[in-house]
Amino acid sequence: MSPQPQAAVGAPLSRVDGRLKVTGNAQYAAEFDVDGAVHAVIVDASIGRGRITGIDTGAAEAQPGVLRVIHHGNAPKLPYRDNAGSNNPPGRRQRVFQDDRVLFHGQPVAVVVATTLEAAQHGASLVKVEYDAVQPSTDLHDAERDKPTKYARGDAEAGLRDAPVRLDVTYELARNHHNPMEPHATIARWDGDKLTVWDKTQWVVGTHDELAAVFDLPAEAVRVINPFVGGGFGSGLRCWPHSVVAALAARETKRPVKLVLSRKQMYFGTGFRPSYEYRLRLGSDGRGRLTAAIHDIDAETSSYETFTEAVMGAGQMTYSMPNVRQAYRTVPLDVNTPIWMRGPGFASASFVIESAMDELAHKLGVDPIELRRRNEPNEDESSNLPFSTRRLRECYTVGAREFGWQRRSARPRSRREGDWLIGLGMAAGVYDPGRYPAQARARLDADGTAVVEAATSDMGPGTYTSQTQVAADALGLTMRTVTFRLGDSLYPQTGPHGGSSTMASVGTAVHDACNQVRRQAIKLAVEDRESPLYGVKADDVVVRGGRLHMKDNPARGETYRTLLARNDRTHLEAGGSYTGPPSPARHSYHAYNATFAEVAVDATLGLVRVRRMLGVYDAGRIISPKLADSQAIGGIVGGIGTALLEHTATDHRDGRIVNANLADYLVPVNADVPDVRAIYLDGEDNDGNALGVKGLGEVVQVGVAAAIGNAVFNATGRRVRELPITAEALL
Ligand code: MOS
Repeated sequence: MSPQPQAAVGAPLSRVDGRLKVTGNAQYAAEFDVDGAVHAVIVDASIGRGRITGIDTGAAEAQPGVLRVIHHGNAPKLPYRDNAGSNNPPGRRQRVFQDDRVLFHGQPVAVVVATTLEAAQHGASLVKVEYDAVQPSTDLHDAERDKPTKYARGDAEAGLRDAPVRLDVTYELARNHHNPMEPHATIARWDGDKLTVWDKTQWVVGTHDELAAVFDLPAEAVRVINPFVGGGFGSGLRCWPHSVVAALAARETKRPVKLVLSRKQMYFGTGFRPSYEYRLRLGSDGRGRLTAAIHDIDAETSSYETFTEAVMGAGQMTYSMPNVRQAYRTVPLDVNTPIWMRGPGFASASFVIESAMDELAHKLGVDPIELRRRNEPNEDESSNLPFSTRRLRECYTVGAREFGWQRRSARPRSRREGDWLIGLGMAAGVYDPGRYPAQARARLDADGTAVVEAATSDMGPGTYTSQTQVAADALGLTMRTVTFRLGDSLYPQTGPHGGSSTMASVGTAVHDACNQVRRQAIKLAVEDRESPLYGVKADDVVVRGGRLHMKDNPARGETYRTLLARNDRTHLEAGGSYTGPPSPARHSYHAYNATFAEVAVDATLGLVRVRRMLGVYDAGRIISPKLADSQAIGGIVGGIGTALLEHTATDHRDGRIVNANLADYLVPVNADVPDVRAIYLDGEDNDGNALGVKGLGEVVQVGVAAAIGNAVFNATGRRVRELPITAEALL
């Protein structure tokens, strides 16, 4: 990092927006008070596939307060320009109200706009839609596969055939929904040909570009505002159809329109973590050195878009082995399109690989950590690049010591406390963090305060706080004299707020902008005959608490305020940027963890209780330890959900999601979450970002489900190869 003193970075600070949030003063998308706003409620298709043969809107339109009912029969044709560089997967994106086709259960078929929410809701219930329905295909096990994406090195078939020890296992992973607390919502307002939306999104720039493309508007005609996000986990990484519906409804009614998805609608109005069928064959020598792996990976996508995620990476570089073959097939179903969810791809693949490693360890009679150590690679065998940093061995050592791994009995079902069988399990986690080009702007005002801006989001990791920490240190200001602004497409452009990319990308741009402003001030001082710093070498000046002074002689200096006032400057300003990761890549840059779980399983009832969890992270520099803990706890809680509770269930007869609510879709609650401890290996990773970070938000969920599944096996001797692991499966 810069030679600047680091006062804020690394300090366990509370959130700068914490007070706003706990007092209810943080404004989320649906909470903006837009003058004259009316309400829109979407009517969802009640069939799984087919055509709309008739829509009767008479009763709805007769309701007091209802302004308009819009559907494919009366909606204008929308341009839907291609949107290259978006997060839209290949295919043909859903086009709202453009034709009579129904592609999945819940697809928007009409929208009712009314002066009150109640009138819009009631109106929506009165819209009568007739369909010509056909049988939808929603079963991953019973549908045609697309052509596979393949990877191969060595000869996996031969390697497996010749392996003295072989494993052939198939794992099933349930579909998961993000279920952020804040529902997805959009307020849209047209001022002539200019569109402003307040939208729940993890990427204001992406939503901006998509709305410009759908309505064929010039970039400057669209503005997206989103200062707060009430959780995302990936559900906000793309502009969904309801945002287009809101903008369309606003244009048609010439009124600002507010549209909030119901909890139920979030199960088909936004994406989800796809379900997987994952067959893994492993071969090893007698000591557990892996010789071959064959991965056959099938995952659901929609009929109209091919969603893929990084599910092949972990199988290529987590462990050393000469022979690997992978085939990843998407399975188009009559469902809406999936999207990334925390630890995308890696969390799913790692569940399978890390469970299988546990199976292999048991088969060989080798300790699971020792097995992993024996297969630790010296370089990334998928790219033949050296690792920038990879400290998984240390994660194992620290984790084993801190968790008391030596107390684990290798023999399953050997520890019992009353009705409860106790087991310990662990898993490794790996994640390939995203890094996207980003811009930021910093302005130091004459009063000695600064404003820093970037068009990123803060879905909850604490971006407001951590970016303020980076900015404060680079500017030599205190936290309270720096304001960081985000969530507006008018700010300097950034990539998606996801994939653990934000600190490396936006943080680097912020760091750059603030360094430039500080250097401008230093230059001004050392060249100013009236400054006490006149004639000093710029490199010998640091700034602390808003005061420039000689590094070795703090008495000699002056404040930003004095300097700017004397020079008649109202402000100093600079734009900063991050240009993306080194290209071509020089290193394999990944974040790692070792995750440990202790579970208790009721021997007769099959209930699983997680009793303790520990994550040890190799994630580079930790900018904000308190926020990091919040990430680690959140990721582990997410992993507990995937392991034991979360499962979006579809009725294959009509394609309906049967548990589209928070009573039937189970997520961990306080009683499900034990003591969680997080340890971060001290250090930094300098592969192409000055901050030394690797990103933490995703890797914290990778491996968690496997650690729990492995602990369940250790407790019970039962290997459940289907997520979530339910009491029924353990009976
Ligand atoms: Mo995270 S899946 O990139 O929001």
